[in-house]
Amino acid sequence: MPELKVLFSRQQIATRVAEIGAQITRDFQGEQVTLIGVLKGAAIFLSDLSRHIELDATFDFISVSSYGNEKQNSGEVRLLKDVDQSMEGKNVILVEDILDTGLTLTYLTRVLNAHKPKSLRIAALLDKTTRRVQPIKAHYVGFEIPDEFVVGYGMDYAERYRNLADICVVP
Ligand code: IMP
Ligand code: MG
Repeated sequence: MPELKVLFSRQQIATRVAEIGAQITRDFQGEQVTLIGVLKGAAIFLSDLSRHIELDATFDFISVSSYGNEKQNSGEVRLLKDVDQSMEGKNVILVEDILDTGLTLTYLTRVLNAHKPKSLRIAALLDKTTRRVQPIKAHYVGFEIPDEFVVGYGMDYAERYRNLADICVVP
């Protein structure tokens, strides 16, 4: 493994993910929630977050076209895999690794709102607020980060480094 600088350690991530899970548990007390993970980057976040949500919960996954092997987003979003079930009447929480330009989540919000969910919220582990092109906000944010390219804890650079336990900066 090359020397990558750690931005958030596994301990820092674990603490923050537990806090978000506790917040979601409080916000949806007595209700059911459906967590929709955006493949593949959010898979690890969803699996950890879900275990801190003490509610009746189900999982689903959605997949959109990604950056490919580049660091820059082309701006075009395509749906590669839709949810398996209708989200009508459900408390949906979209679980995403990074909120960057906002194009992906703006698109996914539109797709999911068409299902007429009871509620729709976004949980993003990281938020690059300065990069926003679409004015979208996440209800739950792990950490705000500067405009740097990060990997680990599910996030990749050209499909690599997803398995790093810490979140690191690509130089
Ligand atoms: P947006 O549509 O620009 O908000 O892009 C969000 C998606 O871009 C995220 O789901 C990530 O998959 C990817 N992305 C944005 N920044 C990074 C990064 O620093 N590392 C890895 N993936 C990133
Ligand atoms: Mg992603």
